[in-house]
This record gives sequence, C-alpha cells and structure tokens, in this order.
Amino acid sequence: MSVGLIGLGVMGRNLALNLAEHGYPVVVYNRRSEVTREFLAGEASGFPIEAAYDFEELVGRLDRPRRILLMITAGKPVDQVLDQLTPLLDPGDIVIDGGNSLYTDTARRCEEMEAKGLLYVGAGISGGEEGARHGPSIMPGGSEEAWPHLEEMLKAIAAKAPDGTPCCEWLGPGGAGHYTKMVHNGIEYGDMQVIAEAYHLMKAAGMSHPEMADTFRRWGDGVLDSFLIDITADILGAVEADGTPLVTRILDAAGQKGTGKWTVISSMDLGQPVTLISEAVYARIVSALKELRVEASGVLTGPDSVPQVDPDDVHDALYASKIVSYTQGFMLLGAASGEYGWGLDLGVVASLWRAGCIIRARFLDDITAAFRRRPDLPALLFDGFFADAVSRAQPGWRRVVQTGAEAGIPLPAYSAALAFYDSFRSEWLPANLIQAQRDYFGAHTYERIDQPRGVFFHTEWTGDLSTRRV
Ligand code: 6PG
Repeated sequence: MSVGLIGLGVMGRNLALNLAEHGYPVVVYNRRSEVTREFLAGEASGFPIEAAYDFEELVGRLDRPRRILLMITAGKPVDQVLDQLTPLLDPGDIVIDGGNSLYTDTARRCEEMEAKGLLYVGAGISGGEEGARHGPSIMPGGSEEAWPHLEEMLKAIAAKAPDGTPCCEWLGPGGAGHYTKMVHNGIEYGDMQVIAEAYHLMKAAGMSHPEMADTFRRWGDGVLDSFLIDITADILGAVEADGTPLVTRILDAAGQKGTGKWTVISSMDLGQPVTLISEAVYARIVSALKELRVEASGVLTGPDSVPQVDPDDVHDALYASKIVSYTQGFMLLGAASGEYGWGLDLGVVASLWRAGCIIRARFLDDITAAFRRRPDLPALLFDGFFADAVSRAQPGWRRVVQTGAEAGIPLPAYSAALAFYDSFRSEWLPANLIQAQRDYFGAHTYERIDQPRGVFFHTEWTGDLSTRRV
C-alpha cells in the first residue's frame, strides 16, 4: 500500500477516500477497531483501502519510504501514537501530522523524529468534511527531505485554485505548516465575526431572515464572494417545519478549540497587532458567558433605539474590516517567518487559501496578486488595490461603527479594525504620554524626538525636571 492513515474520524475517513480515489491505495488504522470494520464495509468498499488492526500490521504493509498520515486529536494523543509508532519505523520513513497541532509541538516533534533518522511533516489541512473528501487546502512544513516523496500525492488530493494550481505547497521547516494553518484559523475566526456583526446590525434594524439571506446571497456575487458568505446565506434561509428560522433557535454561546487563541498568543509574543482576530476570540468568550450576560441585561442600561442601517454601508464595513484583518494576519505570518527563520513566501500562502479551505474567497486572488506585484509587501494596506478599496469603503464603515455605538450594538471587530486603520495611518500617536508616565512612576526612560533613536533619557518629574541621558 502506498500510504498509511491513522485515525478514522470524519477528516481521516474522507482523506482516505480522497487518496484512494486518486490512485493511492491506503491502509487504515483506528484505535477502536469497530470503526475500521464499519468504514471498510461501508464507505470504503470498492476503494483500494485495506484495514490494519495494529501498528505492526500497518507498518508491515507499506512501501518504503513509508508514508503515514496521522488524523488524530491534537495534543497528547499525537505524542502517544508517535511513541508507539516510531520504534517500528526505518530511517527515511515519513510521518505526517494532518491535525490542528500547535506549531511549537510540531517543531519539537520534528527535531525528535529527525534525531531518530525519521522525517516529520506538520501539515495543516483545511476544508472540513467536504474539503477532505474532494480537495482540501494543504499547508505542509517540517522535514524538507520528505517533500519529494509527498508532493505528487498531496497535490493530487488538494483543491485546485481557479487557475488550476493545487492548493498545496511546501511552506518551510519545523512548525511552518502548522503555524500557517493556525493563522488561517485565526483569520477564519475574524471572518466569522465580521459576518456575525453584519447579521447583528441588520437583525437589530428589523430586517427579516429571508431579507438578510438575500442580502448575503447578493454580497456573495461581489467582492465578498466567499465560502463563509455563501454558507451564511444558506443558514439564514434555513427554516424549521413551523417556519421559524433555524438560526434563531441556536443558543448564542460560541465554542472554540484553541487555534484562534494560539494566533492571538503568538501575535502578542511577536509584537504584532492582530487586533481583529483578538476581538473575534474575545467575542466568542463573551458570548459563552451567557448566564452572566442574562443577569447583566436585567441591570445595565443602554440605548434602546432601533438602528437605521443601510445594508450597503454594512457591506463596506465588513469588506474594509476584512482587509484590515488580512493585513494583520499576513503581518503576523511575516514576523513569525522572520523570527523562526522559515522563509515563508506570503504570496504562496495566499495562493494556497484560494480554494479548498474555510476562508476561500475571491479576495484571496486579490491578495495573491498583491504579493505577486510586490513579494516583500510589508502590509496589504500598502497595495494600491487594497488602499483604494478601503478608501472607498471608509465612509460606510465609519457610519456603521457610529450607528453601532449610538444604538448600543456591539461591533468589536468593525471598531477594532477601524481603530487599527486610524492608528496605522497616524504618523503621530499619543505614546509620548505613555512613555512620560512610565518614566515618571518607574524611571523606565524615554527617547526624544530631538535626539537619535536608541538614546534614552530619564527626567526627575517631581523635582526640578532635570533630564539626564541613561
Ligand atoms: C478548517 C477548520 C477546522 C476546524 C476549526 C474549528 O480549516 O477546516 O478551521 O480546522 O473546523 O478548527 O475551530 P473552532 O472549533 O475553534 O471554531
């Protein structure tokens, strides 16, 4: 068999079928053997897929170098499987982790495996059930020597961009692939939040669910054309048997598995302003405080006016916020690449997200084009296309943020994006005062505008204001 696959959850099963369909016979293993039996007898029947009931059997059936894809829960289970699997492998064999592992875990595993003469690849795989079955976006990184043995297979099963290019490319060493997938997921959180804010505003303004579904459908034909806008239109149009929109019966407390949070933690560590994604993560956290919110809603006051909302303005607020979010996400990727020495090609990253993944959108073609125009683009907002787009969307975006504030509708992502935009385009910010305060209470020193950068001063703020160089 040409590839082994461990873990027959929904992603694992669909990837096995996808591999088999593309001419790569698969031997599959699952911890619970009845799942394997069921899969073989059901969905996998007729495909070149065989079962193994322990790791020896799995390893014994594979051509060399062996290629084993792990589709298991991130975290400890990956280390446990590696502990059992690696003693059975030979030098040059390849293990690919296709789950949502934390990039630092992947970097560590890569080193540990390479020390044993094995090759390790952390491959972010996006696209959910459907993507896994018919073409996901795949973001591999790790032991580069593995790539020639994987390229053809992974590109065969990956989604194809509108120009026919497979959405799978080698990204870099260590945790580069899983980091890229993590940022993809952070951006996914942001995209979902900007859509949710549009829904909140339009609902508060009195639009019906069918009207909102139609609006999203219309937006999906323009610059916002994307998978998440399309599924939002479907969701808002879905009604239960009694005619009630299904979405209104869903509890308003969002879950999360951690990739958005990891993106924010990394952004803090690297000093990158990923403010929109941060707000999206916090918005989920606030939503999950349902009981407290119910209590607060009975005691805290606010305006109760019905907002006057022009859907075209909401469209512009969403689009401009999205541009800011991707600007921030790509800044983070660039900073991480520099810090960890990955040599990430941001244009390639954008191109991998054009199809197959959850954030797939026409927009990603524009981003790919921007990085092709200028590969070292420091911020998407510097690209003429995006600078013009934000400039055009700006009046509606500002009106929407103002309307939200006046009507008491929280718009954390739109507001954070606008605050970032206004900060980013400000030559001067009031951080001189922050520096003065820090120096006043803690002698933390400051730089002066009449002196070169890197020269620090301290002032006796409560004395004679004497200032000395430190
Ligand atoms: C994807 C998705 C996938 C998963 C999210 C959900 O790219 O296919 O991002 O990885 O659905 O991680 O994340 P939360 O449960 O944290 O929302």
